[in-house]
Amino acid sequence: MKTRILGTGSSAPQNVVTNDDLAKIVDTSDEWIYSRTGIKQRRIATHETAGTLATEAAKNALENAGVPAEEIELIIVATTSPDYTFPNTASLVQNNIGAVGAMCVDISAACTGFIYGLSMAEAYIQSGQFKKTLVIGAEYMSSEVDWKDRSTCVLFGDGAGAAVLVAVEDETENFRTVSCLHSDGSKGHVLTAGDRTKLCKGDIDYLHMDGQEVFKFAVKRVPESITEVLDKAEVQLNDVTYFVLHQANIRIIEAVTKRLGVGMEKFPTNLSNYGNTSAASIPILLDELNRNNILKRGDKIILSGFGAGLSWGSTLLEW
Ligand code: ACO
Repeated sequence: MKTRILGTGSSAPQNVVTNDDLAKIVDTSDEWIYSRTGIKQRRIATHETAGTLATEAAKNALENAGVPAEEIELIIVATTSPDYTFPNTASLVQNNIGAVGAMCVDISAACTGFIYGLSMAEAYIQSGQFKKTLVIGAEYMSSEVDWKDRSTCVLFGDGAGAAVLVAVEDETENFRTVSCLHSDGSKGHVLTAGDRTKLCKGDIDYLHMDGQEVFKFAVKRVPESITEVLDKAEVQLNDVTYFVLHQANIRIIEAVTKRLGVGMEKFPTNLSNYGNTSAASIPILLDELNRNNILKRGDKIILSGFGAGLSWGSTLLEW
């Protein structure tokens, strides 16, 4: 059974926070943030949550796909910042959009979460269990960072992106989805948040990151996993139209282009506007490319995620 993305959607809070705005609350500057990360501004929730952002992104994706919510059989929400421990965010979305009876599950794989979710939805379709699925990456990162810690609060933003992944019944069609996904739990300490032993004592455990370790991990693992998925799919590097990477940091993306020997023009970015929206960053960018008619039928696109876990992986799609 082949699978394809039939539609995409996204959503972000209205509230724009620029680097100059941040310089009023922590000791930082536009020059420091932009030169090290490529970020100019981010969207920060005022009343939105991962659940409300995921709902808006889902509605937009369903409309784009032309699929009624009642036909969706599986909803996967990748998030590290759910509204509740339970019920899961996918169930909130299900109720908000009216996808009555769909299986609903959240997955926690940080910035790799969306492509983990896409691969899981694809596996359910391959098994014959479902035909129409909704995969969402949604984050309320501003609830996870310490707004007094300049080394992390400047990096993140809130938002959600979604994709409708469906079975392709026509065997003559070329669509396919090929993934290679990994984790290395021994490096988990490099990027953490929400230690429950601290929360139980009434403390708040904000996001902690060893930025340089994350940088080294990303520039090694992302090119590796792109090469791995190309080999698995038997596709040449030159045949890939776009590489849609997790939008963490422009310097990571530039380093990946150099290691692969591919020009920056094949690596679209939007992190200057959104910051790092973790699990939401890949589907938000994919939605921008789709809505701006940049993606053409038959394009080969690689999605690559990397983040806490440490987790990483790549998915090759035919558009
Ligand atoms: N403004 C001004 N100064 C700052 C800021 C800030 N916002 N943040 C840190 N500094 C200071 C530090 O205090 C330090 O000062 P010191 O030398 O007096 O001690 C100095 O800048 C250098 O700090 P470093 O942490 O060494 O800064 P570095 O050059 O490594 O840049 C960064 C930090 C941008 C996070 C970098 O490590 C990086 O690109 N890491 C990649 C990881 C990443 O992007 N993570 C995103 C989230 S994880 C993910 O999505 C996978």
